[in-house]
Amino acid sequence: MPANGESADGMTRVSLPARPDLALVTGANSGIGKAVSVALAREKYRLILLGRDEGRLIETQKECNNVCSDAVRKIVAYDLTDTEGIAALTEEIAAACDGTPGVLVHCAGTAPRGYIADLPAKAVHNAIALNTSAFIALCGALLPAMRQSEMGRIVAITSGHALLGLAGFAAYSAAKAGLERIMQSLKAETASTNIEIALISPGLVASGQTKAPECYSDAMRRRQQPPKRTAEEVAEAVVKALATGTDVTLGAKQRIARHLAYWAPGLVRWAFSRS
Ligand SMILES: NC(=O)c1ccc[n+]([C@@H]2O[C@H](COP(=O)([O-])OP(=O)(O)OC[C@H]3O[C@@H](n4cnc5c(N)ncnc54)[C@H](OP(=O)(O)O)[C@@H]3O)[C@@H](O)[C@H]2O)c1
Repeated sequence: MPANGESADGMTRVSLPARPDLALVTGANSGIGKAVSVALAREKYRLILLGRDEGRLIETQKECNNVCSDAVRKIVAYDLTDTEGIAALTEEIAAACDGTPGVLVHCAGTAPRGYIADLPAKAVHNAIALNTSAFIALCGALLPAMRQSEMGRIVAITSGHALLGLAGFAAYSAAKAGLERIMQSLKAETASTNIEIALISPGLVASGQTKAPECYSDAMRRRQQPPKRTAEEVAEAVVKALATGTDVTLGAKQRIARHLAYWAPGLVRWAFSRS
């Protein structure tokens, strides 16, 4: 809650609660993560941008610094499926940025499509690791400092595929369902703290994932849907979630599906497989 106080000039000042301002954005060089990075630069966060492709990270860095000079403190080219290196990586980041990030926006992800018999083990491993073990490792490395500073924000991007397993989406559904259960545990573990945890369910978004889908079954290539919203709209939802600490599901159909999936999963499965 804002703390109000009367100052020497007799004016009532509203002091907003302090917010952490050093933010680590994963998946920052493409799609949703890139749009989030630019939106956070506009909100005056200091940024650490993480992805694997350094060239595209530099492009995001330029865009962020154009909207707010010196917004980007560090770019980090790192493969998050190397989960064992994540603790050391965050120590390196903290040393270079004079502090541990108090905000984590986890956008790194892959979305392998393909029937179970066609899915390569590596693609399955990457999708699940990015959404589960890498995410746990990142949170585990950042949470102690968030607890100590008594503030922190963790936001992750989920999908309607977390709700139920459709044909051709086994790996993606497993990854996002895992992510959602981890978010529930995180919320429970931070319930009595000032650390806010929020999940964004964006629907189909124009991004690297929808432009060049990672697809392993020919029959699925013919079943592409057009994106429903832009990465910038999702970035707005992330900014809102950071301010309020509440989950955001974009799109009325998605919101209804989230409620119905619990009570009438058969109906939701039918509706999803028709669209
Ligand atoms: N687009 C959609 O319709 C949609 C819908 C629901 C949820 N989502 C979720 O939104 C998140 C962002 O996806 P997007 O749509 O923005 O896709 P995107 O444009 O393909 O971006 C994916 C990002 O993840 C990074 N990444 C992939 N593998 C990585 C690895 N091993 N280590 C580190 N970074 C890695 C990529 O950078 P590098 O290639 O440089 O590694 C890229 O920056 C994902 O979790 C996705 O599942 C997307």
